[in-house]
Amino acid sequence: MQDQATRLREIATEIKKDHNDYFDPDLRKNSRAKVFAVTSGKGGVGKSHIAVNVALKMKQAGYKVLLMDADINLANTNILMGHAPSRSLADAIIKGYQISEVIYTGPEGLHVLPGGSGFAELTNLPEDKKNNIIRQLSSLEYNYDYIILDTPAGIDKQVLDFLIYASKVLLIITPEPTSIADSYALLKILTLQEKKVGINIVVNQVNSLEHAKDIFSKFNLVVQRFLKIKINFLNYIVSDKNIIRATMQQKPMVLSYPNSPASRCIDNLMERIVTRGDIKCEEHHSSFFQRVSELSLFN
Ligand SMILES: Nc1ncnc2c1ncn2[C@@H]1O[C@H](COP(=O)(O)OP(=O)(O)OP(=O)(O)O)[C@@H](O)[C@H]1O
Ligand SMILES: [Mg+2]
Repeated sequence: MQDQATRLREIATEIKKDHNDYFDPDLRKNSRAKVFAVTSGKGGVGKSHIAVNVALKMKQAGYKVLLMDADINLANTNILMGHAPSRSLADAIIKGYQISEVIYTGPEGLHVLPGGSGFAELTNLPEDKKNNIIRQLSSLEYNYDYIILDTPAGIDKQVLDFLIYASKVLLIITPEPTSIADSYALLKILTLQEKKVGINIVVNQVNSLEHAKDIFSKFNLVVQRFLKIKINFLNYIVSDKNIIRATMQQKPMVLSYPNSPASRCIDNLMERIVTRGDIKCEEHHSSFFQRVSELSLFN
C-alpha cells in the first residue's frame, strides 16, 4: 500500500507537470484569452466568491483559466482557496521573479496570479523593467482561454482601466440600496469614458430568479433613464449559508458544497459565460495588458 508521503509526492509531481504544461511553448494557443473583470460599485457584495467559483467551474469544464487577484489591499481569493502564496506580482516587480514563478496552482489545478500591490508598483518602474513585466503578462494571454480578474470595488482609476479594456465586465449587484447606488455611480463614471464598455449584471444574494429580475428591472430603469446605456442581465446567485460555511472552511463552495443552491447558480453563470454565447465578447486585436499599459494605466 502506498504511504501518504509517496502519494503526496505523486500529487506534487502531477501539479508540477500541469503547471509546466501551461508554459510549454508548443502548447500555447493561437488566440488570446478573453479577459473578464468581476467588479462592483460597493465592497463586500460577493465578487471574490463569484470570481473564484466561476474560475473553478471553468477549469472543471476543461478550459485553461487564470484567476488574477487584482485587489491591491485585500487578496481574498487566496483565503477563499485556503492558500497562503509566498509570492505575488509585486515580487516579480521588486525581486525580479518571472511571472510564471509567481503563479501558483490552486484547487482543481486552477492557476492563480496574486496581484498584491503589483499593479501599483508598476507605475514607479523604469520603462525597460515595466516593459519586461508587461511583455510577460501579455504573453500569458496565449496560455489561457479565460483570465478572470477579481477587481477591487469602486471607481479607482486603476479599476476603471481594467474595466475599460477587459473583454467583458461582470458587475455584481445586491438588493441593498447602497449596492445599487454605488453601482449606478460606477456606471456613470464609465459612461464618461470614450470607450464604451459592455456591462453584464449578476444579481447576488437574492431569493429567486424573480427577485433578481425585479432588482435588475429597477436598476435598469434608472440606468436607461439617466445614463442611456444598455446593460445585460446575465444571471443571479441566491443567498446561501453554504457560501459562509465554505468561507469558514477555506474550501471554495463549488468544491465543498457542489449541489448547494448557490453552486447551481454558479454552474448556470459559468455556462452562460462560456457556452451559450449570451455574453458577447469585445474582440481585441492587441493584448489586454498592453492596452491597459499603453493607453493609460501604469503611466
Ligand atoms: N450568495 C451569497 N449568500 C450568502 N452570503 C454571501 C453570498 N455572496 C457573498 N456572501 C458573503 O458576503 C461576504 C462578501 O463576499 P466577498 O468577499 O466575495 O465580497 P467582495 O465583493 O469580494 O468583497 P471586497 O469588496 O471586500 O473584495 C462574504 O462574507 C460572503 O460569505
Ligand atoms: Mg473581494
